[in-house]
Amino acid sequence: MAPMNPRPLTVAIPKGRVQKALAVLFAKGGLDASVLDVDDRRLVRPTVDGSMRFLLLKPDDVPTYVEFGAADLGVSGRDVLLERSYDLYQPLDLGIGRCRMVVAAPADRLEMPSAPRVATKYPRIAADHFAGRGVQAEVIFVGGSVELAPLVGLADLIVDLVETGSTLRENHLVVVEEVAAISSVVVANRAAYKLRSAEIRPILSALAAAVAAGKT
Ligand code: PRP
Repeated sequence: MAPMNPRPLTVAIPKGRVQKALAVLFAKGGLDASVLDVDDRRLVRPTVDGSMRFLLLKPDDVPTYVEFGAADLGVSGRDVLLERSYDLYQPLDLGIGRCRMVVAAPADRLEMPSAPRVATKYPRIAADHFAGRGVQAEVIFVGGSVELAPLVGLADLIVDLVETGSTLRENHLVVVEEVAAISSVVVANRAAYKLRSAEIRPILSALAAAVAAGKT
């Protein structure tokens, strides 16, 4: 007799922009994820056939749910994975949620001070970046609207994500260094990846095919 699974395969995803891109990717791979397009406030979304369910989370929380096994799979930005250490598999880059982690400075103050103050939501990524370049930076954590910090004297520089570049432009900031290319990747709980591989593998194959089709 086949072993009984205690719950449908559970996939943690970030609410918002990536949620929409993911619904498209699942559809391209021939998987039904239409429940992601429904405009309501449900945080647990079973698929129509009940074989899978999605958990809708804040992006920063996705790896935590997967690492502790509350979800079997997840979709997370590389920014979140770089900032903290998680014990997870990363079997597939989805090529969605693409953006860049950069150092930016006010357009009229491009000279880097010898010991800059750096505001960021990503203190570890920022500290590693400047340490790697031998720059003694003072990293200041802020929770959002990071672009404000150099405009009002909180910091000399920021480390933040840039997608279209509009936020930097409209706040008179320019990119001075690239830190990392960011995209969304599938993360998998280590135990579930082995124990539920019969369910997980076809999903990864379908998504990989959809990603490959999108590149041509
Ligand atoms: C993100 C990021 C930048 C902005 C970049 O912020 O931190 O501020 O988007 O996008 P752009 O290059 O297309 O302008 P988010 O909108 O998530 O809000 P936050 O500042 O509150 O984190």
